Amino acid sequence: MLAPVILAASRSDKMRRFVSAAPGTKQVVERFIPGETVDQVVPVVEDAVAKGLEVTLDVVGEDITTPEQAAAARDAYLDLIAHLKGLGLGTKAEMSVKLSMFGQALAGGHELALANVRPVVEAAAAIGTTVTLDAEDHTTLDSMFAIHDELRKDFPQTGCVIQAYLFRTEDDARRLAANGSRVRIVKGAYKEPAEVAYQDKGEIDKAYVRILKILMHGEGYPMIGSHDPRLIAISQELARRAGRKLDEYEFQMLYGIRSEEHVRLAAEGHRMRVYTAYGTDWYGYFMRRLAEKPANLLFFARSTITK
Ligand code: FDA
Repeated sequence: MLAPVILAASRSDKMRRFVSAAPGTKQVVERFIPGETVDQVVPVVEDAVAKGLEVTLDVVGEDITTPEQAAAARDAYLDLIAHLKGLGLGTKAEMSVKLSMFGQALAGGHELALANVRPVVEAAAAIGTTVTLDAEDHTTLDSMFAIHDELRKDFPQTGCVIQAYLFRTEDDARRLAANGSRVRIVKGAYKEPAEVAYQDKGEIDKAYVRILKILMHGEGYPMIGSHDPRLIAISQELARRAGRKLDEYEFQMLYGIRSEEHVRLAAEGHRMRVYTAYGTDWYGYFMRRLAEKPANLLFFARSTITK
């Protein structure tokens, strides 16, 4: 009931100002976003790697409104890559990007986003790592997949994300599984209409399993982005049945959510990658985390009231 309201608020400037100014916000935000600067996030990366985990780093931000902001997003990632270079972590530290932050929604946005993201993918490849294109709302996906195809011509390791809640995704999964892509499968975090997406949690979970089967039996590299214990157990079983070795797929979870499970799966020999977001434009990312679990909203409300 609450999730659609929170997701609608995630696109409201008025709510952005209110939430950002609320007294308890910072404390709750830090649970999901461990820093605002690259200097603050580098020790978090080192700590994760020391625990046997891998990371995918996201500079928070989306829905920018000027080409200058898009260029600034590109530069923020290039700065991150310059910092990672010295750590020599290779694919243990990869990057996730939202194309809306690279200008996708502006006039000529498809070409602009491609032009801005390409140098990031090139710089990542130069230090032995890669980039995954996050999935945003359904209206952006044809452009995202076209950019993904274009980037893969030169950088075949470039990954992308598919969302189980969308009706289109089984077809997308078949195409990506056949062309050997790295694919992160997630349930989906945006407010989508009933014309394009399942609304019922049970239906979304069933679709997730159907898509997992396609990915596990395909030619690509499945990345299972979920905290759901049932789906994780099913993934392990499907990987076993498909004859995949432990390094032929990976699990991914978000920083701050089920952290003990990150370490447990890594200790079992799984590749476990933690999606670690940092930066100052955290509002949209933070609100999606609140929408996923109403208890987070209560925690947030309590922190705000007791400040
Ligand atoms: P579900 O929501 O059923 O949660 C299962 C359990 O996990 C919950 O019972 C709870 O214990 C815990 N949990 C989940 N979310 C929590 C939260 N916010 N706070 C506290 N506990 C929580 N989406 C998208 O649309 N595009 C994208 O590119 C990505 N990228 C992405 C990367 C990675 C690595 C992950 C893990 C997720 C994404 N997502 C995403 C988000 C995804 O679509 C989805 O909204 C969340 O993962 C929540 O769904 P679960 O599969 O975890 O299941």
